[in-house]
Amino acid sequence: MIYLDANATTPLLPEVLDAMLPWLREGYHNPNASYRGAKEARKAIDEARARVAALIGADPGEIVFTGGGTESTNMALKWLARLVGRKTGQVITSAIEHSAVLKPVETFEDVGYKVTRVGVDAGGRLDLDELKRACGSAQEGGGFVSLMWANNETGVVQPLAEALEIARVHGLAFYTDAIQAVGKIPVNVRDIPVDFLSLSAHKFHGPKGVGALYIRSGCRFEPMLRGGGQEKDRRSGTENTAGIVGLGVAAEMAAARLVAGENPAALRKAFEEKLVGELDGVTINGDLLHRLPGTSHLSFSGCEAAGLLILLDDLGVACSAGSACMTGKQQPSHVQKAMGFSDAKAKSSLRFGFSCLNTMEEALAAADAVKKAVEKLRRVQGGSTGPVVVYSP
Ligand SMILES: Cc1ncc(COP(=O)(O)O)c(C=O)c1O
Repeated sequence: MIYLDANATTPLLPEVLDAMLPWLREGYHNPNASYRGAKEARKAIDEARARVAALIGADPGEIVFTGGGTESTNMALKWLARLVGRKTGQVITSAIEHSAVLKPVETFEDVGYKVTRVGVDAGGRLDLDELKRACGSAQEGGGFVSLMWANNETGVVQPLAEALEIARVHGLAFYTDAIQAVGKIPVNVRDIPVDFLSLSAHKFHGPKGVGALYIRSGCRFEPMLRGGGQEKDRRSGTENTAGIVGLGVAAEMAAARLVAGENPAALRKAFEEKLVGELDGVTINGDLLHRLPGTSHLSFSGCEAAGLLILLDDLGVACSAGSACMTGKQQPSHVQKAMGFSDAKAKSSLRFGFSCLNTMEEALAAADAVKKAVEKLRRVQGGSTGPVVVYSP
C-alpha cells in the first residue's frame, strides 16, 4: 500500500516508538508521585516539553500537554469565549476552519456571540480586507480571532503574520490552529507572536491522542479540565507519559528535518508533473505559492472521487476525497464551497498527502495508479475531459 494521506495522520517513526515503549512497560509510574520511577517519568515529560517548545520557538513553561489537537483547540476557544463574554463577545474566524474550530464556534453562536466567518479567495487564502472589516467592528478586548495556520484539505498556508497584525491593531486576542503546519513548515511563535496555538503529534509522525496547547507567557488562562491540577493547573489528568515522550521525540525529529530542509515537496512535484503531463482534465487546487510541501489537492474532470477512491484502494494507493462523503453522496466540503468550486469540481477532487516516509518510486507509482484509475473511470462513466487548468494566484 502506498500511503498518501499524511494530512489525516502519519505513521509513527521507529525512533518515536522505541522512545515510547519503556514508558509503557517499566516506566508506568505516576509522574506526580515522589519515588524514583515517578521522578524519572517527570524528568522525561519535562524533556519532551523542552523539545516541543524548541520546535515552535516557545519557552517550555508555555507548553501544556493535552489529549490531542481537538482538545487543545477546545481549551483555547472555550477559554477565550469566557474571557470576552457573550454580551459583547465577537468571534472572528474563517470559513475554512477544521470542525474542531467550527463546532465549538457554533455553540458560541447559539448562546449569543456574534460570529464572523471570513472568506477566502479562489486559491483558498484568507481575505485580509474582510478580516480588517470584521476586526474593525469588534470592541477592543471584546472579541477574539481564531484562524488556522494551514488548511487540512488543500494544504494552503494562510497569511498568519498579516492576520495577527490586523487583530493586534484592534486589541483582539489571537488563537491559531497550527495542527497541519507544525512539523511540516517553520512555525515560530517569536516571529509570529500569537497568544494561543495548538499542535498534534500524529500529524508529524508522533502518536495519536496527544498534543499541546501553547499559551503565550503573560496570557490569562483558565482550564477546561479541572481535577488534580497537573500541567500547572492548566490541564488536569494524569499525564500520558509514553505519548508525551513520543510527541517530544517526534518534535525533535521534525525540527531536525526543517533545519536540513527535508520535506516531501520534490515527491509532490514529480507526482503532479507526471499527472498533468500525461492526463487531460487535471486541476491543481489551492494557491500554488503557499502550500504545505506534501499536500496535493487535485480535481479530475469527468470522474467521481468516490469511484476513484475505490479503484485506487484496489490499486494499492490510500488517499482521501477532497469533499465530505455523507451517506454515500458526495457533498462539496465547506472549504470547497468557500473557494467557489462548482459541485462537479468538488465531486471530482482528491487529496494526496506525502510525508517524509514516502519515496520517489512511490510518488511515480501512485501517479501511474491515479492515471489508470482516472482513465478507467472516464471510460466507464463516459465522462468528458477538459483542458489542463492550473490555478495561478
Ligand atoms: C487543521 C486541523 N485541526 C484540528 C485537527 C484535530 O486534531 P486531532 O486529530 O489531534 O484531534 C486536525 C486533524 O485532522 C486538523 O487537520
